[in-house]
Amino acid sequence: MQIHNLFSVPVMDYSVDDEDLLSTLRNHLDHERTVDYEENPYSIRGKTSHHTRSDLANLDSEWSRRLRALICKLANDWYQHVNQIPLPPANQLDVHCWGMCMSEGDFSQVHNHPGADACGVLWLTIPEGREEREGQLVLMDPAYARRTGVGQYPNVDVEPREGYGVVFGPYLEHYVEPFFGEGNRYSIAWNVTMR
Ligand SMILES: [Fe+2]
Repeated sequence: MQIHNLFSVPVMDYSVDDEDLLSTLRNHLDHERTVDYEENPYSIRGKTSHHTRSDLANLDSEWSRRLRALICKLANDWYQHVNQIPLPPANQLDVHCWGMCMSEGDFSQVHNHPGADACGVLWLTIPEGREEREGQLVLMDPAYARRTGVGQYPNVDVEPREGYGVVFGPYLEHYVEPFFGEGNRYSIAWNVTMR
């Protein structure tokens, strides 16, 4: 007799050691937080939550081109592992990347990224002194039928760290727990889609 685990949920983690890019992104989000584009707030909620436009990897600047190349590489690494074929070349991909600024009490409601071929997150700034689970990214079992009751498969908490991120399938529902205390929680999220 043998137990077969038939369904998998591939999630790839990664670290970014490009401190210059990370600090440029932090500064960009600091600035963007002061601008109200009056767009819908995506998934984030809370009195001080703010998301930028989704053009971070499409701006006419060297750091933005570097970010786009990084995202395309990460998306391809994940996609190739899952599908055994690479994504098309970067010039045939649309990359939408936006920043999310959160402070005390802000959170992100349950959502996924429909229409994308790969998506991910990268944490830039994490407030110190959080209680356990505060500010966590929570990944939810995509098998809805086993979310409750006997055999319930627990959600997976991902501990946010500066310069760290994850790549996952656009179908995978997730949310962000609020934190309570001083400081900011800055991250970027991205979608990569074949044209
Ligand atoms: Fe998301």
